Amino acid sequence: MSASEAPAGLGFPFPTAVYDDAEALARGAVERLLRAVHESASEKPAVCLSGGSTPKRMYELLAGGDCSGAVPWHRVHWFFGDERLVDPQDKDSNRRMAREAMFGHAPVPAENIHPIRTEGLSADEAADGYAGELERFRSAERQGGAPMFDVLLLGLGSDGHTASLFPGKPGIAVRDRWVVGVPEAGLEPFVPRVSLTLPALHSARLTLFLVSGAGKRPILARIAAGEKLPAAEVSVSGHAPPLWLLDRDAAAGPRAA
Ligand code: 6PG
Repeated sequence: MSASEAPAGLGFPFPTAVYDDAEALARGAVERLLRAVHESASEKPAVCLSGGSTPKRMYELLAGGDCSGAVPWHRVHWFFGDERLVDPQDKDSNRRMAREAMFGHAPVPAENIHPIRTEGLSADEAADGYAGELERFRSAERQGGAPMFDVLLLGLGSDGHTASLFPGKPGIAVRDRWVVGVPEAGLEPFVPRVSLTLPALHSARLTLFLVSGAGKRPILARIAAGEKLPAAEVSVSGHAPPLWLLDRDAAAGPRAA
């Protein structure tokens, strides 16, 4: 794998791998996801997808040519870390992005896709519905305190948010539920959201942050300086610390080995 692990000098508080560019990052993330899925002890490995634009290439790779054959599509179950309260056909829908980049091109059984349903619902109602969806899967497929997700993908917003847990908004403090309604987004698109909470984000065997582009340097520097931002709070999972996958433009670190 063409990535330098935990580059010296980056001063980042979490395990990190730096890739040459966004394409290498997406390929590295696919490799890590596939390894975790194949190593999973579960007959039904669960992957939680991130919204935003960065994971799009990864989703295309999963569904496309050489990688698709390596995905056990009939076994893997796909969840979402957050959703915007827009029509599922809207350009801002995370569900639409995943469908267009991946599910629409893959032999995935419909019952293996677990979107956050928002149609005709308030953010709180949609959150309650998704909490029920997670709970049903968890009680049927995850026993003995096993983590909910085999792989959790997350992104980093320029304000330090992850999923739809924004700095200074109440969702980040919620500990007694796995899913919350987010009436007010802290960043564009300014539509209500539904988001997994920290307890849900801490129930993963492998957590990968995907961060690409020079525009993310300032927020990475703030995390490196120890600011308590939502993304940085996804830190003690009880399973393994999150792994941050950066491209060189984001890390501004040394060239990958
Ligand atoms: C969302 C997200 C969000 C995203 C970051 C990074 O639906 O908005 O899940 O947390 O991952 O904002 O987004 P980009 O990948 O577009 O930079």
